[in-house]
Amino acid sequence: MTSSIDNARRTLEARASGLVFPHGFVFGAATAAYQIEGAPDADGKGESIWDRFCRVPGVIVDGSSGDVACDHYHRWKEDIAVLKALGLGAYRFSLAWTRLLPEGRGQANARGIAFYDRLIDDLLEAGIEPYATLYHWDLPQALQDRGGWYSRETAIAFADYARLAARSYGDRVKRWTTLNEPWTFCWSGHATGEDAPGLRDGVKGGVTASHHALLGHGLAVPAIRAEVADACVGIVFDLNVSEAATDDPRDVAAARRFDGAQNRWFLDAVFKGAYPQDMLALYGDLLPPIQAQDNEIIAAPVDYLGINIYRRSVIAAGDELAPLSYRRVQPEGIYSAVDYEIWPRCMYDILHYVNDRYSPPAIYISENGVATMPETVGEDGCVWDDLRAAYYVDHLEQVAKAAAEGVPVRGYFAWTLTDNFEWAYGYTTPFGITHVDFATQQRHIKYSGGVYAMIARQETAPVAKSA
Ligand code: FCB
Repeated sequence: MTSSIDNARRTLEARASGLVFPHGFVFGAATAAYQIEGAPDADGKGESIWDRFCRVPGVIVDGSSGDVACDHYHRWKEDIAVLKALGLGAYRFSLAWTRLLPEGRGQANARGIAFYDRLIDDLLEAGIEPYATLYHWDLPQALQDRGGWYSRETAIAFADYARLAARSYGDRVKRWTTLNEPWTFCWSGHATGEDAPGLRDGVKGGVTASHHALLGHGLAVPAIRAEVADACVGIVFDLNVSEAATDDPRDVAAARRFDGAQNRWFLDAVFKGAYPQDMLALYGDLLPPIQAQDNEIIAAPVDYLGINIYRRSVIAAGDELAPLSYRRVQPEGIYSAVDYEIWPRCMYDILHYVNDRYSPPAIYISENGVATMPETVGEDGCVWDDLRAAYYVDHLEQVAKAAAEGVPVRGYFAWTLTDNFEWAYGYTTPFGITHVDFATQQRHIKYSGGVYAMIARQETAPVAKSA
């Protein structure tokens, strides 16, 4: 006799296998160096702001750090085997700046460079295309000590690091992302302080860091192209459509400000060559000095935009971060372990929002996924993460719909390949499609991984052949 759970699974799997994507659509999984690698001082690696931040008592909910994480630095072959078992054609990972340049600039570290050589070679050997991200939040502490993203010097150092990485790996890596989620690392790191370097400098901090990070991006794009003639270069933003909580004009205006801070500030700068006027006026004296040529540098043409999307934002007028002065409203609904509303339509809406207003040459969903409470492998040898499996099907349906309507979305990366260190949440809110037993470091593909693999297998095989 089949149970209702079995029936629900069969129905979900039928929906998964019925999804249709454009020819050549890329399916992958994403990770970030600090969240998986461990080995914080192996082979000459320098200290990053996340290494330092995790030592501050109370900032990580379970008091943990990425010191060991998934021990990927020693177990990358196991993780490539997981990617292969899932049938994924692409892997998005980040390079730890401090492995290549322990002090952030100056002397390069050959042993650190060699780690990614091994990873990249093994990925290619497995038929998996590497998508490298240069900055996923782990700024060298030595640069933080000189002002970090408050300093234009960091933007210049970032471009030099980008050049070194492109020179080191560009013969094999063609897909490059400069920054991952500048809104998050600039604002959570410098305005509100939940992320490294833990500064609570309000809007002035967020906007100052944002400008220098975007400048670093703009300087890095030509630096990468100079080293890798056939590079495909882009940036990843965390975007979500900002909806006003009510029709009250005060809430509508707050939602517009929030949209300006999170979405338009970054998109206008890169795709229109100027920050939005309303936000410049709002920030006023809080802006850092913006030099004459900065807009043009930041608007260096990119080949694609990566979108990380986890939720929608429902916004009302409130007290947070004056003069942004907003409040996030949590509508009734289903929420993940990190308190994000599960709202699959956010995917469709953001794809149209971006395409209608900015027409990027190509779009990738560079992250999407859901956190649960920690899971265990059951006696039947399975991790039945039904909520996550449904999340992927529900969100990929929205991607397929937007693609069928002509939005140039070329690929999708699940966040994340394996359970890992989830920043301030430590190990309490896993996002993986693969379970990791952190006591034994054993990997175990979850039910969601199996369902995602069913979807991915439809199109990745022909792409891998033609690539
Ligand atoms: C994104 C980050 C990623 C991960 C997911 C859940 O904001 O890019 O590292 O933490 O959220």
